[in-house]
Amino acid sequence: MRCDYYAAGLCRSCTIIEQPYAEQVADKQARVADLLGPLAPGLTWLPPVTSDEAGFRTKAKMVIAGTVQAPTIGILDASGRGQDLRDCPLYPVSLSRAFPMLADFVTRAGLEPYDVPGRRGELKHVLVTVAPDEALMVRWVLRSTEALARIRKHLPWLLDQLPDIAVASVNVQPAHAAVLEGEREVVLTERETLTMRVNGIDLHLRPQSFFQTNTAVASALYRQAAAWIEASAPASLWDLYCGVGGFALHGAAPGRTVTGVETSAQAVASAQRSRDERLWSGDGSMRDVAFETADAVAWATGQASSADAIVVNPPRRGLGEELSRWLDASGASTVIYSSCNPDTLARDLAWMPSLVAREARLFDMFPHTGHGEVGVVLERA
Ligand SMILES: C[S@@+](CC[C@H](N)C(=O)[O-])C[C@H]1O[C@@H](n2cnc3c(N)ncnc32)[C@H](O)[C@@H]1O
Repeated sequence: MRCDYYAAGLCRSCTIIEQPYAEQVADKQARVADLLGPLAPGLTWLPPVTSDEAGFRTKAKMVIAGTVQAPTIGILDASGRGQDLRDCPLYPVSLSRAFPMLADFVTRAGLEPYDVPGRRGELKHVLVTVAPDEALMVRWVLRSTEALARIRKHLPWLLDQLPDIAVASVNVQPAHAAVLEGEREVVLTERETLTMRVNGIDLHLRPQSFFQTNTAVASALYRQAAAWIEASAPASLWDLYCGVGGFALHGAAPGRTVTGVETSAQAVASAQRSRDERLWSGDGSMRDVAFETADAVAWATGQASSADAIVVNPPRRGLGEELSRWLDASGASTVIYSSCNPDTLARDLAWMPSLVAREARLFDMFPHTGHGEVGVVLERA
């Protein structure tokens, strides 16, 4: 795909953007098949789920640099100066049209961009997420609360310019460190959650919760997981590292006990809200769905007995030895592992010799980069 920023050497984030898309997918497929091949000789690969080549990214993490009068919205170059990327082709129109207004807002509200080399200034990042219905969540990551009152004062202007903003908040990140956001969040709008409707299910995203970056491909991933769960018809299901509950809510069925486990209390509250809304609307499959705030490893290994089927969707670091070995020895007949890091996936599968990888699929969540999401269904040998 053509990207002017890449061609001019101004941004190199999409490392393989010049490679034709079909070839990118074929290479990723070959790489994950090579990685998992020795561990799972009989594994069947379903056709890869591909993405739109442009306009697929639903989350923008934009660094703000430059000056109050002329802010840049994009990334920092090697010398720490701002590189504006407001026309980055990865973003859908609903996000691209917000960037100029968000830059104007910096000037209007007098938000001094944080200068990394000089350790001066207030505004570090603007994080924007777009929902399938085009509603937006906008978050300003600030060094302190110095500019909070000015953001509040000028917010009505921004809401007039961008009526799609459903949620706006400030995140306070005082550390001079490569950490994107801090712990304190101040929500400025009446609404605190963005509704991400996926396959007819409303997932409620709070500012600090994780959501997949490519909603269209994530929808396909949840559908695939639901089909794998249905095929094994478990009486009980766990969704470990459940986030706002995508896998758990897709895997619910009448009479099935479903438990989602996640460390973020905010994400758990969102998942519970989705469950409650469906329950109140008469969806009986939600009756035995529950979510708990806990560390997945401590929680799972502390249970008296295991569920029949377990979905795991850990961060890039993977499950690790303790949980992998525990899954291997557990009573679960089916494990569905969704991974954004094939290297840790392969490492973890090697600790599960009693579980046989039966079917797998590549979900191309991150086009133009070497990254991919892989879903694998494992069954007890
Ligand atoms: C890759 S995300 C997956 C989220 C969710 N399954 C989805 O589809 O959006 C990983 C999730 O694991 C959570 N997490 C990280 N460490 C954890 C831990 N030790 N125990 C439980 N959850 C954890 C994160 O907060 C994040 O929501």
